[in-house]
Amino acid sequence: MEEKISRLRDEALRAVADSRNLAALDEARVKYTGKKSGLQELLKSLGAAAPEERPKLGALVNEAKQAIEQALGDRKAVLRQTEQDQKIAAEKLDITLPGKGIKRGRLHPLTQVMDEAKAIFGRLGFEIAEGPEAETEYYNFDGLNIPPHHPSRDMWATFFIKDDVLLRTHTSPVQIRVMEKRKPPLAIIAPGRVYRRDSDATHSPVFQQLEGFLVNENVTFGDLKGTLTEFLRQMFGKEKNVRFRPSFFPFTEPSAEVDVECVICSGKGCRLCKGTGWLEILGAGMIDPNVFKAVGYDAEKYSGFAFGMGIDRIAMLKYGIDDIRLLYENDLRFLEQF
Ligand code: PHE
Repeated sequence: MEEKISRLRDEALRAVADSRNLAALDEARVKYTGKKSGLQELLKSLGAAAPEERPKLGALVNEAKQAIEQALGDRKAVLRQTEQDQKIAAEKLDITLPGKGIKRGRLHPLTQVMDEAKAIFGRLGFEIAEGPEAETEYYNFDGLNIPPHHPSRDMWATFFIKDDVLLRTHTSPVQIRVMEKRKPPLAIIAPGRVYRRDSDATHSPVFQQLEGFLVNENVTFGDLKGTLTEFLRQMFGKEKNVRFRPSFFPFTEPSAEVDVECVICSGKGCRLCKGTGWLEILGAGMIDPNVFKAVGYDAEKYSGFAFGMGIDRIAMLKYGIDDIRLLYENDLRFLEQF
């Protein structure tokens, strides 16, 4: 009996020591200490032993059981640690692999030009105002001295939404909206989207304008010239010449079209400026007394100038973009160049 106990004990301890992983160790645990194990059989057979032998044999079995359990516990800790180490080693990061590049976002060229224009006028003391893109006929036309059925409405190919509501064809309605609410002195710019029924390489049905106007006592055409010349030189280069040509807008009198020296040939004449040496950039003029009348200003007391420019056109000239549609297609191959 004693021999049997010590054989079992040795066999169990060897099995524990030989277990290569936690699963094998668990098998050994069931086999040597479980309900159907040899040790358990021995405990049951103690009853058949001579009574004076029983305490000694019982103690031996218990001792063997404790030794096995101790060995099981120790081996389990070792195997756990090993498995953990192997797992960590297998998951190791290879920090020499090249990383995944993070794509950097950038501002749309129109946003860049608009921001630059706003910054220039901001330094000149203009504040920003906004108006709705779905506009009433009154603000887009009548208030700006463009009566119904007047042929000058043909200057703007208009998208009507319903009878009295349209997509604004220019940012000039913001002039009326601001002047209705506030009194001079005013120096305002109004950036925003405008819409016209027009579409080719140089016309998009939606594009961006920057409106500007200034109203005070004794504002002259000289103030207009000075302001726009300063703006255009900051935008296109301080050596650039600027010229004003007589023109017509219903809401300004006198009116002018303003050109800047060609960005490509600087006045010599090229394909971009069609040989003239000049690029047309914006419309401007002194605010018509009829506009002041519409907003309840005293046209005898106040005078002012207004101007409007296409931000898309400025962006195209600055960056040499030859098709306006590129600005609205959001093709990353195009946008990533700015
Ligand atoms: N609103 C005019 C246009 O879109 C531009 C302009 C604005 C002209 C202000 C004169 C004064 O064509």
